[in-house]
Amino acid sequence: MNGQQSKVLQISGLNVKVKGKHGTLALLQDIDLDLKRGQVLGLVGESGSGKTVTCHSIMQLFDPHQIMVEGSIRLHDRELNGLPEQEMRRIRGKEIALIMQNPISAFTPVYTIGVQFVETIRTHSDLTKKEAHELAVTSLASVNLPEPDKLMKQYPFQLSGGMLQRVMIAISMCLRPSVVIADEPTTALDVVNQLQVLRQLDRLRTECGTSILLISHDLGVISELADEVAIMQQGRIVEKADVFQLFDQPQHAYTKKLLNTRPTIPMNNQ
Ligand SMILES: Nc1ncnc2c1ncn2[C@@H]1O[C@H](COP(=O)(O)OP(=O)(O)OP(=O)(O)O)[C@@H](O)[C@H]1O
Ligand SMILES: [Mg+2]
Repeated sequence: MNGQQSKVLQISGLNVKVKGKHGTLALLQDIDLDLKRGQVLGLVGESGSGKTVTCHSIMQLFDPHQIMVEGSIRLHDRELNGLPEQEMRRIRGKEIALIMQNPISAFTPVYTIGVQFVETIRTHSDLTKKEAHELAVTSLASVNLPEPDKLMKQYPFQLSGGMLQRVMIAISMCLRPSVVIADEPTTALDVVNQLQVLRQLDRLRTECGTSILLISHDLGVISELADEVAIMQQGRIVEKADVFQLFDQPQHAYTKKLLNTRPTIPMNNQ
């Protein structure tokens, strides 16, 4: 990785504040992050450190009356912070896709997966219903979801969290966005499905050149996929480094603590 690669997403001086009864509270402070084409940037930090707030700020999902997002979020050469909702809607999914931590909330409960998948494809392309349906089925099969035809007719609540996240990845594969933000895509999954999701994200990167912001508190997951890692603590980035360097020579006390508290298999010393 070097500076010659073009930057796809550039976040600089990001400050996020929430208005409360007793004044404003800072959720994020001075966040700087860059994503290059085809790069996977891991974002790690304990629960409540601000990882999901970072994702939602990038996607411009906050109500500006409640939460203030200051600073710059550039996609290619375009500033996203403050972009009108109508324009942002064209960018979400097509340019930047968010694989949500809680996938059920990304789907409308009263429509089948098929209806929502086809609708999403058609919003961003001029495919016919039939073409979009065929593309959706092929894409579901490509993320190893069994019986995709049947799955198209099912409702979101009939699928597990892991299956829904794979559906979101399948949608991303059709839209080929420049950036995918994957917020804890593996936390709710068993080891076999974790591996599958990571493989599919890797495919998205290699086949489509997609840049991925991979959020996890699992350093094992990060080490599988990330090129670079940013460590977050209490709304700030405390360390940023190449993945090998971070694991070999952690600089910040908090990073050292995170590495030391990784679960290990107890050895029998007797
Ligand atoms: N809409 C909101 N309004 C007010 N405070 C919020 C809002 N969303 C998040 N927060 C607060 O911001 C902080 C960071 O939350 P966030 O969801 O980003 O954590 P996280 O790092 O994603 O944690 P986890 O690993 O548990 O998902 C928390 O203290 C949370 O209570
Ligand atoms: Mg979160």
